[in-house]
Amino acid sequence: MNPTTMLYEGKAKQIYATDEPSVVLVRYKDSATAFNGVKKAEIAGKGELNNRISSYFFRLLTEQGIPNHFVKEVSALEQLVRKVSIIPLEVVVRNRTAGSLAKRLGFEEGIILPEPIVEFYYKKDELGDPLVTEDHVLVLDLATKEQLKTLKKTALKVNRFLSQWLEERNLILVDFKLEFGIDEKGEILLADEISPDTCRFWDKDTKERLDKDRFRHDLGRVIESYQEIWNRLEGEKNV
Ligand code: TMP
Ligand code: ASP
Repeated sequence: MNPTTMLYEGKAKQIYATDEPSVVLVRYKDSATAFNGVKKAEIAGKGELNNRISSYFFRLLTEQGIPNHFVKEVSALEQLVRKVSIIPLEVVVRNRTAGSLAKRLGFEEGIILPEPIVEFYYKKDELGDPLVTEDHVLVLDLATKEQLKTLKKTALKVNRFLSQWLEERNLILVDFKLEFGIDEKGEILLADEISPDTCRFWDKDTKERLDKDRFRHDLGRVIESYQEIWNRLEGEKNV
């Protein structure tokens, strides 16, 4: 399974071909960006923590029967995943007001939503990944009705499971972003990563931000917060 050609380089990861055509290798980078690449930095140790955290979450979701791309963690920075064609939608689930929702609609952060909100963003860097409605998705053929239904249903299932699981570790899952892909058999798989780069995690008691908002808003202690998330996940092994 030796990585050969680099197939793609994104803001936080590189993707390499392997000698198995249906499997690719993901290498996590220390690079961090925010606000559509306007703010950039290298955060030593982030790649390793995100690889570990994301691998951990995908293993949990596999146990929950959620079809996903994860194959195995192969090194500190690398994991093998099934090769998929990414559906160009970011699926965001929100349990509390925060980030762009709070800003756009003028709500303070942290208000508990009576039920989760699912949003879709069109993955197009040059447009800054705009918010789209379900009608936009369907009429502009960004995904089929069937796919949209699967995305929403799976995102809510992931939310129900992870919210509860994290709450038991004294963490609030405020919101998160998922991406999905289609494999060679046409199956929809949960893909990309689940990490403090793509989720908002708050400490349940102090409401301390333990995610990429620390980098976005210059709150300091960025890597320490990612490490804290890993410690709470890893704590599991010692129970
Ligand atoms: P937002 O409040 O900025 O729209 O972000 C909602 C969630 O999605 C938050 O947990 C961070 C995550 N997210 C990404 O993973 N990638 C992105 O490009 C953006 C904008 C948000
Ligand atoms: N907008 C993304 C974020 O803040 C990162 C980026 O697009 O550069 O998470």
